[in-house]
This record gives sequence, structure tokens and C-alpha cells, in this order.
Amino acid sequence: MPLEISGVLDRSQVAKFQALLKQARWVDGSATAGHLSQQVKHNRQLAETDPLAIELGNVILDVLERHPVFVSYALPARIVPPLFNAYRGGEHYGAHVDGAIRPVAGHPIRIRTDISVTLFLADPDEYEGGELVIQQEGGELCAYKLPAGTLLAYPCGCLHHVEPVTRGERLASFFWVQSMVRRGDQRAMLFDLDQAIQRLRATVPGHETILALTAHYHNLLRMWADP
Ligand code: NI
Repeated sequence: MPLEISGVLDRSQVAKFQALLKQARWVDGSATAGHLSQQVKHNRQLAETDPLAIELGNVILDVLERHPVFVSYALPARIVPPLFNAYRGGEHYGAHVDGAIRPVAGHPIRIRTDISVTLFLADPDEYEGGELVIQQEGGELCAYKLPAGTLLAYPCGCLHHVEPVTRGERLASFFWVQSMVRRGDQRAMLFDLDQAIQRLRATVPGHETILALTAHYHNLLRMWADP
């Protein structure tokens, strides 16, 4: 299931990101797409090695590393350094799937893409169109156009596309996570259990079942996780 997390960046961070990205050196987005995706990808990106992408990407990673809901959902082992894209004047990204394995520029490692993340960096009223449309497991299409600073995380492997932007400019960061838990169904169960424990801790602090459930959570994690 996709997960929305609001307020990953606060308003002042969003304003700073927008100001810097407005003056950024954008390049053709098809540079980082696979053969099939290249034919449907019509947007602009910052180069992976662009110092601005690295600087802003590190701000995002720093926030996410300490974000309890993100960590609970993704159980990250590795995160691809965040990339940045922009759409305007009819730019769009047709239906595609993200590649399963991503190389990381300048590093001798490859990352398995378990979870896709889009961090919206423009508010919905700043542009027309630009919805991120994701095909859910049952085939149903869900469209997302979230406030700046809000993140959408969803399991990789879903067909998705970005609608044409017909007014204004859509700015976003996007990246992938390799999770310690490879299987999405196991990750979903761990997330549900952890969130239930957190609710219990908030409503009945000190209850003896909290410890028992926490032990159960860690035993499942020990069984399924590959750190
Ligand atoms: Ni994609």
C-alpha cells in the first residue's frame, strides 16, 4: 500500500529548495531511463553528480533517517541518492515500471529497488496536471498530487505515470529504497504491527502487552530482515 507522509520538509525548507531549483541546471530526463522508459519519459532532471542534487538530497536523507514512520514503513537498508525532476509546458512521463536494480553514480554498488519515493516540492495550486498515477494491485488507478514537503512511498513494480503539466511547474525529488525486508507483504505486516504497538504505547502506556508485542515484532524482523 502507498503511504503518504506530510511535513517531511517544513515550509522554510520547501522555500529554500524551490529557490535553488528554479536556478538549477536541468538536463534531459531520459538520460537516466532504461530503453523502454526513454520512449515515454519527457521531463527534465538534475544530473546525478550535480552538486545541488547532492546537497539537497543529503538534506532529505538526513530527515528520513530519523523519521520514525518512514523507517517503520521502509525498513531501509540502502537508499539511492535522491534525484530531482521538473515538468512544465506539457512535459509528462508515460506508463512505465522502474528498473529493479539501480547503479549509484561514483559508487561500486547497486541497489535493489523495493520502494519508490516521490517527495513533492511544488504545491498543487502551482501547476495544472502533473498527477502521479499509480496502478494498484487490483488494477485500480490512484492519482496523487500532494502538498510541497509531502512524500509518497509505494512498492516498486507498480505501473505508474505522470500526467502532462499544462500550467506552471511541477518540482519533485524521487528515489528508491532497498529494504532490509525484501517482500512487500512481510514489510506491510511489520509496519501494521509496529504502528499498532505505537498506538498502544500512546493510549495505554506501560501496559505489559507492549513488551510482549515488541518482542514478537523483533522476532519477526530477525526472521525476515537482511540488514
Ligand atoms: Ni517511475
